[in-house]
Amino acid sequence: MILVTGGAGYIGSHAVLELLLAGHDVLVLDNLCNSSRIALQRVEQLAGRTLHFVKGDIRRRAQLDALFAQYPIEAVLHFAGLKAVGESVRHPLNYYDNNVGGSLTLCQAMADAGVFRLVFSSSATVYGTPATVPINEQAATGLPTNPYGQSKLMVENLLRDLANADPRWSIALLRYFNPIGAHESGLIGEDPCGIPNNLLPYITQVAIGRLEQLNVYGADYPTPDGTGIRDYIHVVDLAKGHLLALEKLRQVKGAHIWNLGTGQGHSVLELIRVFEEITQTRLPYRLAPRREGDIAACWADPTKAERELGWKAERGLTAMIADAWRWQVQNPSGYRVTDRVKESIKRIPASPISGNIQREAVMTRTGTSSANALL
Ligand code: NAD
Ligand code: UD1
Repeated sequence: MILVTGGAGYIGSHAVLELLLAGHDVLVLDNLCNSSRIALQRVEQLAGRTLHFVKGDIRRRAQLDALFAQYPIEAVLHFAGLKAVGESVRHPLNYYDNNVGGSLTLCQAMADAGVFRLVFSSSATVYGTPATVPINEQAATGLPTNPYGQSKLMVENLLRDLANADPRWSIALLRYFNPIGAHESGLIGEDPCGIPNNLLPYITQVAIGRLEQLNVYGADYPTPDGTGIRDYIHVVDLAKGHLLALEKLRQVKGAHIWNLGTGQGHSVLELIRVFEEITQTRLPYRLAPRREGDIAACWADPTKAERELGWKAERGLTAMIADAWRWQVQNPSGYRVTDRVKESIKRIPASPISGNIQREAVMTRTGTSSANALL
């Protein structure tokens, strides 16, 4: 069984689906601070299989110990954490507590339970301002300009020290570039709270009329059209990379870094153009000043992941944007349920509570549990 922390979130839910499709048993631990149980219900629907779900927190050691005692966990995919850059500047302690403290507690619980295989969600943000592009894994890490980025780098360092100190550990540090898109079914996708910070969710929300217009942050960068360039990667390709890393860790010890990107950079104006082509609409946007902390261009050299994991991104920009748009159109309010649905769910008995863990098997095809999963 694979423990997936943060498995109800954007990337985690896509990874859980791939795990289930590949035949793994999955236990999701998520405190739902930035996600919904409905995502997991839909994952089960897509996989045609059930998963185990525990609403809980990676910072709670007793809860983790109980899970490791109860379930035959062989490895952990660790997505749980906070990820909003601006919020991390305003509330640094929350970020260090959740991301660093939570990861530390998780590793302690894993070690005591004798589980030493871990895949960690890192970020290209650890490279800071890259000296050259494309960026390979040997590039020096930079100085992240915000507590979110710092927390990722701190956890990477923690995990490297751990692997150096104890040869039983096999750890993957997966440095994601810019994940976008959604599952092609349109059933699961990114559901940001409030006004999105990231480019594609902002674009889709402008297009459906929830936001007025897009600000293109900076048109004077030293790039061909003056706007920022990033390596956008389809979330399903990213999710598949986790399964290959998990398998690789059966054969190798120590901590290993892999970039997960496509190796292709695209500018903001290019994304707008492709979006307009797919939707056959004009996207309202204006050229605005640069956003503080942004860099001009960042894209991956993903050849190490291809060579060592046999992983290569397969979906191009058109598929990423078309899939994100399908998700947005089919779910204009994300996973949020209407008050009327909530009212009807309230009448259904709550799930059992066992010990200090509230446990729910989120089963799509059984009326009661499925409705509880919506709460
Ligand atoms: P997300 O917010 O959708 O998912 C994170 C999940 O973790 C959420 O379901 C949240 O409820 C849960 N969570 C947060 N703190 C928790 C805690 N203390 N205990 C239990 N659950 C907790 O974010 P995502 O985009 O799916 O990102 C997943 C991971 O990948 C994060 O660690 C993020 O930093 C990293 N990452 C994301 C991106 C990106 O662009 N989305 C890029 C690089 C790295
Ligand atoms: C941001 C985070 C990074 C995080 C990554 C993925 C910052 C400084 N960095 O990276 O730490 O790992 O998200 O979650 O926030 N853009 C616009 N208008 C918008 C939004 C974005 O023009 O409304 C531009 C940006 O200037 C950039 C590109 O679009 O050139 C992509 O932005 P975004 O999606 O926020 O990702 P990053 O800035 O790469």
